[in-house]
Amino acid sequence: MRIRPTIGAALLAAATAALALPLTAQESEFKAQITARQSQMRLYAFNISQLGAMAKGMVPYDAAAATAAANNIATLTRLNAAAMWPAGSDNFSTEGTRALPELWDNMADVQQKGMALAKAADAMAAVAGNGLDEMRAAMGPLGGACGACHKAYRQPQ
Ligand code: HEC
Repeated sequence: MRIRPTIGAALLAAATAALALPLTAQESEFKAQITARQSQMRLYAFNISQLGAMAKGMVPYDAAAATAAANNIATLTRLNAAAMWPAGSDNFSTEGTRALPELWDNMADVQQKGMALAKAADAMAAVAGNGLDEMRAAMGPLGGACGACHKAYRQPQ
């Protein structure tokens, strides 16, 4: 849970009181939704790490494997994830998440960042099988689309 710098003394007292509750009472009512969205993120990470390993020369470039990973990422961007992000499941309101409350205040921008990822993922999928150089060139925009949203809406670890 992140404590906003602007938090009032009363809220802080309430938060402190909540910490004294038994562990079970703290478990988020949105545990399933939070697990689902983090799972989608992990699937992104798994697939982009396959591409990254080839881009960095840690494993030999393989056109079929690169295409598969890129297609997986593009497919994942097409999930309708709306139900995984219920109001009140931010890291100020509940446990087990790094999603910042600002995400729910800026839904249009979040969607725009999601669309930017879909566009970068499609661009990667189009060239991932065309050789290492083309695949590498598409890595920057793809990784950048992940990072732009994390910078704005994910609590750093
Ligand atoms: C539109 C915004 C957005 C985009 C785009 C996005 N993420 Fe995330 N990501 C988040 C948020 C918000 C969280 C925190 C979720 C939570 O803890 O509830 C997160 C969490 C994660 C996590 C941690 C998951 C966990 O188990 O706690 C990983 C890994 C991750 N993202 C990878 C990626 C990768 C890789 C991409 C790009 C292919 C990506 N994300 C694109 C918003 C985004």
